[in-house]
Amino acid sequence: MLSFKPEQFYPEAIARIESVFGIRRLTLFLLFLSAGCNGGGSNPPPPPQSFLLSASPSSLLVSQTATSVPVTLTATPVNGFTGSVNVTISGLPNGVNSSTSSTFTLAAGASQMVTFMVGPSVARANYPVTFSGSSGSPSSSAAVTLTVSGAPLRTTTGNFKQQVIYQIVTDRFFDGDPTNNDPPQSKGLFDATKTNWQLYWGGDLAGIQQKMAYLAGMGITAIWISPSVDNINVAAIFNGAPFAPYHGYWARDMKRTEEHFGDVNNTWTAFDNMVTAAHQNGIRVIVDFAPNHSNPNDAGEMGALLDTGQPFASYSNDPGPPNNLFHHNPTIANFNDPYQLQYYTLVDLADLNQDNASIDKYLKDSLLQFQSHGVDAFRIDAVKHATWGWEYSFANAAFTAGPTFLFGEWFQGGTTDTLYFDSHKFANHSGMSLLDFPLASAMRDVFANNGDFHEIDNTVTQENIDFSSPNDLVTFFDNHDIPRLLSVNNNQNRLNEALALLLACRGIPVVLYGDEQYLHNDTNGGNDPYNRLWMSSFDTSTTAYKLIDLMANLRQTNPALAYGTSLQRWINADVYILERQFFGDVALIAVNKSETTSYNITGLFTALSPSSYTDYLNGLLGGFGITVANGSGNNPVTAFSLPPHTVAVWQSAPAATAPQIGSIGPLLGQSRISATIAGEGFGATAGKVVFGSTSFAASSWSDTTVTFPVPGVTPGSYNVQLTTNSGATSNTVSFTVLTGPLIPVTFTVNNAPSTAAGEAIFLTGNVVELGANSTTLDAAVGPMLAPNPPTWFIDASVPAGITIQFLFAKIAANGTVTMEPGPVHTYTVPSSGVGSVTVNW
Ligand code: NOJ
Ligand code: CA
Repeated sequence: MLSFKPEQFYPEAIARIESVFGIRRLTLFLLFLSAGCNGGGSNPPPPPQSFLLSASPSSLLVSQTATSVPVTLTATPVNGFTGSVNVTISGLPNGVNSSTSSTFTLAAGASQMVTFMVGPSVARANYPVTFSGSSGSPSSSAAVTLTVSGAPLRTTTGNFKQQVIYQIVTDRFFDGDPTNNDPPQSKGLFDATKTNWQLYWGGDLAGIQQKMAYLAGMGITAIWISPSVDNINVAAIFNGAPFAPYHGYWARDMKRTEEHFGDVNNTWTAFDNMVTAAHQNGIRVIVDFAPNHSNPNDAGEMGALLDTGQPFASYSNDPGPPNNLFHHNPTIANFNDPYQLQYYTLVDLADLNQDNASIDKYLKDSLLQFQSHGVDAFRIDAVKHATWGWEYSFANAAFTAGPTFLFGEWFQGGTTDTLYFDSHKFANHSGMSLLDFPLASAMRDVFANNGDFHEIDNTVTQENIDFSSPNDLVTFFDNHDIPRLLSVNNNQNRLNEALALLLACRGIPVVLYGDEQYLHNDTNGGNDPYNRLWMSSFDTSTTAYKLIDLMANLRQTNPALAYGTSLQRWINADVYILERQFFGDVALIAVNKSETTSYNITGLFTALSPSSYTDYLNGLLGGFGITVANGSGNNPVTAFSLPPHTVAVWQSAPAATAPQIGSIGPLLGQSRISATIAGEGFGATAGKVVFGSTSFAASSWSDTTVTFPVPGVTPGSYNVQLTTNSGATSNTVSFTVLTGPLIPVTFTVNNAPSTAAGEAIFLTGNVVELGANSTTLDAAVGPMLAPNPPTWFIDASVPAGITIQFLFAKIAANGTVTMEPGPVHTYTVPSSGVGSVTVNW
């Protein structure tokens, strides 16, 4: 092929053009000529000179207060380009600085390294950053996604209220390590086609680690992963079909990692790597832990349990009572019977006897091992089915080991549930918070089943009365056990609205993986296992993804969400306007879930100061601004119309002018355990903790978080407050000092008096742990259980090594008390292990 140089044909013209236009325009002119000449059969002009700007890597994950890895920016010459390129960086949020100035020059063929320094208060999000290069006319740009994650975490905390939790079924999230998909010791439990919903599909801990940027960009600050312990290696065969423990609830060894999630040797390596990566990006790790049972007693490995690879507990060859490691009772038939719930078998799951010293130690050691691997918090499976009293000592073991947060799964329908009273009694006294099932069912009724917003409002109001720390309830509307909201009602607007309210509402919100991708499979109504779908996309541009990010960031910047009160400001069946307030911090969220109807919102009042407020969501769900006038604190909002399917959030979080406590955690514990106080305005310089009438220095002090060891004071309930370095005093919060570390003791009383319907025998005693001699339904321990009346028994957690005095009482539902005449019983609690004591009434 002939090659032509245009200047051979047009020398004069070129000389003239160069002098008039300058060399760069020449390129264009040559382009024009070459285009014209081609058709005429002359030599084509040379291709235009230009450059290509490229950036590598094209995505960056950087935590607040850190500097990114360098992006290498290269201007690759095209067709002999020799000029220099002017580069401009755009898209960096305030608080992120680049190592170069925002415009710089790059010579043709050269590369420039650019790093980004992220300040402490840059919102967690994905930022599209563009490098635009130009050299006269030729231009080229390169795009980079900068994901800002939270500052690296160095310690665990007793305050979880500011978190937004993302729930992951590890097997169904992302396959980060295909080598562990079909491990030899459990071969055949993997289905590469992802069509058998009861087999493993390949997701693993490495996969979660590899998706850290996706999570951080969504503002997520905590992940709850399905149980990661080693599960049975042999499928359970039911009706001829294999069921693999991909969900993690069928443990065979609670001290090792499942080989499908980690490695063939069941080591902790993949787990540790994932935790390190999460902490590096300001994301806390919550492990799902199941102390109620091992695995099916009728299939697979028949309930057997190993301890770090060694045979430990055999369901089919269990010693007889009282040395039994398992309960061998029928399947739970009556889910309102506390004895059946705790001591019978949940479906066919080999039910562990937590009052057995070996099982007690095994479960506590396993939990503590997770803590030693950096786990920040635990979701405790099926707390309604494990021994309630024992669970107090289980929680206490965790708090004794270090700061953590525990929340249990107490499945119930609502605040009228038969055992609702027992649920809040458990939450208020065990140290363990609960998943908020009553609110979940209200939200599902409202957003999926067209219910009335009063149902949500009534539930929140009732629970806020009954639970001592409602802001610690863990809230959700979807989980891995119930059909996804979109399977019940395939309406993405409703899902967005439910998410917005969940993230604004009191309690610590959980987003089920995939909800941000509008994931659902409606086979069999979307019931388990069809709610445990494969996470098919990681799209960061969905409305739900952006919404979660905005609301998660608001939880970090406006303490009203984490610590505030809840006040319904305007309501009808379709509209809910909820106000959260923490001292001067206010957030007002308005939701209209109607498909068709706009509502005129008149007579709305707020604690927001007189001013104009823009929609914090920037119109993402159709919101707009409002104007607030002066009403001496109860400030009127100028009437507005709220269109169908609209959510707006108006908020203000002025700097605190005084120390304000929003959280203490745990709510109870013995001397020397670490407690965490959180809030705002504590000041940078350490002040003092005032604990009842004792005041002392904290172990750590920042403007928002103070930690301290519980002092050695007389057990009981105390008001705790802070005084700042400049002498200002905060509000108070309540903490109960226990007598000592707890161990479980089975109390049995023979010959108890007969009880009528609504009456039961309770235990009370002279220590805080036994209600400090109180005989109220809430403070006394019980109701005790009577599978063989007139003998009653209960497992209660009491202070180790202490001699206690106790009595029994018959208490009626209306509170009427018939006290055991006495004399008072005495028992010296063992200093470790478990105990039991039997007396006659
Ligand atoms: C509740 C869990 O969420 C569920 O998925 C599991 O099967 C049962 N507990 C038994 O562990
Ligand atoms: Ca895998």
